[in-house]
Amino acid sequence: MQRVNKGRLREFYEEEARRLSHQEVMYLKGNKHELWWHRKRLHYIFSFLSEIFENNRVTTFVDIGCAEGFYIKYVSSVCSGVFCVGADIARAYVKKAKVSGKKLNTEYIVCDIENLPFQDNSIDIVLCSEVLEHVHNYRGALTETCRIGKKYLVISFPGHSLLYSAINKMEFVRNFVDKLKLDVGHVSEVTVEDVKELLKGECDSLKVKIGGALPLQLFKIIPSVGLVEVIDNSFCKALERFGAVNHATIHVIKIVK
Ligand SMILES: C[S@@+](CC[C@H](N)C(=O)[O-])C[C@H]1O[C@@H](n2cnc3c(N)ncnc32)[C@H](O)[C@@H]1O
Repeated sequence: MQRVNKGRLREFYEEEARRLSHQEVMYLKGNKHELWWHRKRLHYIFSFLSEIFENNRVTTFVDIGCAEGFYIKYVSSVCSGVFCVGADIARAYVKKAKVSGKKLNTEYIVCDIENLPFQDNSIDIVLCSEVLEHVHNYRGALTETCRIGKKYLVISFPGHSLLYSAINKMEFVRNFVDKLKLDVGHVSEVTVEDVKELLKGECDSLKVKIGGALPLQLFKIIPSVGLVEVIDNSFCKALERFGAVNHATIHVIKIVK
């Protein structure tokens, strides 16, 4: 994992927001294999969210690390009575989200996941997708996320393939990559066990969905995305059976407090 100070991390996201629309690239553009991978996570998140929305009276929804507001725009367009707040550390992302998603009942704020400006147990659904791995103190960030949630949290974070984990253990390779300073990327390695352990006393139930059992680079040699999906589902079942879900590259968890 890279060791980068918070100021530089923040600057990285500010610069990223000025340069591109991250969510548009992840979910709508890119090559078919990358789209498949990102959309698999998206599908899990949406299925958890629809399950919650269908069975509960929801009035407040917060998306932490909202980037350009993809989820906020979706929820506010299909659930008109829900007050939606998108929160992000990067001012430039918040500005972008505000411009493209001006709607009644929607607000965007600049804040750090480690210090969220909401009261305890005040938000019906809190979404935190692909953010924890970008925070050094991800345990504190998760505790803070849980603090503001009234009942439901949906979180997602990536895992690492066996190959990546092996490379990361080699100090000299890691130091070399750090020196290049090419990309800030991920600074923490979040695991399903960690999440379970941290929220042990806080939650009633926890449901995990996984995907991306093999590295995306390997999937890219299979031309048909339909076949990739079939293979991935079988490998994910194997990871679940052998208690090795951390080796999946997609983890989406629904937490009921
Ligand atoms: C990989 S993007 C994920 C975007 C979105 N949640 C999704 O899943 O499509 C990470 C986002 O988290 C934001 N972020 C990073 N560190 C953060 C922090 N400490 N507090 C709040 N947001 C943060 C970044 O600015 C960026 O928008």
